[in-house]
Amino acid sequence: MPRKEPPRKARDAGARARPPSTAERPRARGDALAVLKVLALAGADHTPAVLTSRELGDRIGVSQQAADRYLVALESAGLVARALAQRRQRLTVTPAGMAQLRSEYQTYRRIFEGRGRLSISGTVVSGLGEGRYYLSQPGYVVQFSERLGYTPYPGTLNVRVGPPALRRVALVEGWTGIRIDGFEAGGRTFGGATCFPARMNGHACHLIHPDRTHYQDVVEFVAAERLRDALSLHDDDAVRVDLEEP
Ligand code: CDP
Repeated sequence: MPRKEPPRKARDAGARARPPSTAERPRARGDALAVLKVLALAGADHTPAVLTSRELGDRIGVSQQAADRYLVALESAGLVARALAQRRQRLTVTPAGMAQLRSEYQTYRRIFEGRGRLSISGTVVSGLGEGRYYLSQPGYVVQFSERLGYTPYPGTLNVRVGPPALRRVALVEGWTGIRIDGFEAGGRTFGGATCFPARMNGHACHLIHPDRTHYQDVVEFVAAERLRDALSLHDDDAVRVDLEEP
């Protein structure tokens, strides 16, 4: 659920940690993108790939010098992080680099598969009771009612997902969702969010993806009904969620 905006300092730090939107950074083109693909295929988004520029060049069919140039460009664009390990280098694809690959993937997916769809599994968990507070704000209620076509039950159902599902959920950032705008009320700032139509165990709801969120492994859902009642759910119950690009 959209959270109250944190103080500016924390907000700026959050902005650095958040994978920047592709529009905010120089794009990796052509062969540089091939470098990102090779590294990500080797799992370098979580475990650094240890390679020389020559080895990297061989893999994408360019000279050692060219591979080195691409790495320098990728590093200065913040898409790859480099550290020296003897004669080799430890290469990591940054969150911004992964965001570029996702955007590339979205293009191919649209070409070959059309509208985005994905399914995830997770378990129901309780939060801090903040959802009810946010979903009771008139500034949100009006927008949800108009844009989702129903007045949501005041709260969000939290679903904890493991790393593979979380990677897939991140794909929705490349989808066109239903926007809920941020606003100010009573001297506080409330953040924006994007919603995506979903079915939880077959029941219609929306995944809500806040612009800024505390949780790394929890996704939140809103629905017209209290989902715990509609689906007889308790903490730790497994749910399956099907998402579709609107
Ligand atoms: O305490 P927590 O942050 O998990 O919950 P909340 O957002 O304040 O929502 C109140 C309760 O309603 C929680 O138990 C949610 O899991 C549940 N809920 C639900 O079952 N269906 C919804 N559409 C929204 C919330």
